[in-house]
Amino acid sequence: MLLGAARRMAARDPAGADELLERAQSAAEQALAELRSVARGILPPVLADRGLAGALSGLAADCGVPCRVEADVPERCAASVEATAYFVAAEALTNVAKHSGAARSSVTVRARGGRLRLLVEDDGRGGADEDGGSGLTGIRRRVAALDGTLRLTSPPGGPTTLEVDLPCGR
Ligand SMILES: Nc1ncnc2c1ncn2[C@@H]1O[C@H](COP(=O)(O)OP(=O)(O)OP(=O)(O)O)[C@@H](O)[C@H]1O
Ligand SMILES: [Mg+2]
Repeated sequence: MLLGAARRMAARDPAGADELLERAQSAAEQALAELRSVARGILPPVLADRGLAGALSGLAADCGVPCRVEADVPERCAASVEATAYFVAAEALTNVAKHSGAARSSVTVRARGGRLRLLVEDDGRGGADEDGGSGLTGIRRRVAALDGTLRLTSPPGGPTTLEVDLPCGR
């Protein structure tokens, strides 16, 4: 709209047109910033296509360490909550494959009574340390942003369990 007005004004009032162009530019910049923040909160496509249980099965199949998935999710949670659960499982299973030396791992997810609980376990060497990289810190930050809790148990010698509890938000 502003661009149209600026074009109509260009010949008879260049200064006025320039002012309109400036407003159009700042409106476009603001729209882009909003679009970015929307994109950041967006559902990974696999979640929309397959649901949380299916998406987690896909992650488990790609893990490298044999991984069993147990899903009990009769309740749908808010998209942001499911996206966070997916993100947590992806980071945790990447860690299992990279660091644990485990023979077996599992992902358990359960949505009941307005809470979503996700558990990622492995029977590897333990010693997971939040100060050791950015993955676990990122998990903690994202879970905290949704008022959830994170519990990591990983004594030397193992096993490692990572448990996240989130309000379902719906
Ligand atoms: N399941 C696990 N078993 C054993 N050690 C682990 C496990 N998960 C994490 N760790 C240890 O904790 C450290 C921190 O993990 P974190 O995910 O924060 O960082 P990272 O995997 O090293 O790097 P990235 O930033 O790519 O995730 C790892 O470097 C590893 O030593
Ligand atoms: Mg990691």
